[in-house]
Amino acid sequence: MTAPYIEVAELLLRLKNCVVLTGAGISAESGIPTFRSKGGLWEKYDPTVYASIEVFRKDPSKYWQIRGDFIRDYDSYEPNAAHRALVELENLGIVRQVITQNIDGLHRKAGSRRVVEIHGSLREIICQQCGRTYLAPNIPEGNPPHCACGGVLKPNTVLFGEQLPPEALEVAIRESSTCRVMLVIGTSAVVYPAAHLPVVAKQHGAKIVEINIETAFPDADHVVLEKAGTAMARILEAITSRRTD
Ligand code: APR
Repeated sequence: MTAPYIEVAELLLRLKNCVVLTGAGISAESGIPTFRSKGGLWEKYDPTVYASIEVFRKDPSKYWQIRGDFIRDYDSYEPNAAHRALVELENLGIVRQVITQNIDGLHRKAGSRRVVEIHGSLREIICQQCGRTYLAPNIPEGNPPHCACGGVLKPNTVLFGEQLPPEALEVAIRESSTCRVMLVIGTSAVVYPAAHLPVVAKQHGAKIVEINIETAFPDADHVVLEKAGTAMARILEAITSRRTD
């Protein structure tokens, strides 16, 4: 019986052409709370109040109450072994694209070059009146923070009720429909259209590998039930040891 991560390593070496879909679970070991797993943000805060564009327009302090500290501590979060393994797999020519639902910027911080952030990024904070862009963590004090012009600031992230950035979604769908393997790492796969991307990949003949601490995508061809940092480090190790064979 081959260990699942050995199977995944051999699959990646054989097929290459891998696209990765990541969710909050890949950043859990960087100390960033997830949304729906144990201790997640949505256990404490109702997303329809604290993360919806409709409420933001009436009362932006609700959103800033749950995101202000994160943004002001933005530079203190570091990528973990899972982010770093994806950089190595990109350098080996195996991973060709990362599609992330995460807004923490850790894939780019780790050194991934081809990253599409389909839910936007907390790094850019934009004045809703004059369009001036501030960069985390350098934003004015206050909840909500205001621009020098007096306008309210909003991070360039997709709140519930907002459309995804069309160009990001186009890249995500194109990459998902042309890859041969999709690694689905640390996502509950309940928010669309992101959750549809593994279905698109599978419909186009790709093998789906889920890496999670609990199964969220039942149609996966391979499942590694392990923390992302441990799983990805083991998969990378199995690949590099086979490449020298
Ligand atoms: N390693 C791997 N997986 C993990 C780990 C870990 N260390 N810790 C948690 N997980 C898994 C959980 O089992 C769960 O399946 O990560 C997943 C996290 O799910 P969510 O919290 O729902 O996060 P995500 O899937 O990214 O949410 C999608 O929902 O609220 C919106 O915009 C928000 O982008 C987010 C979207």
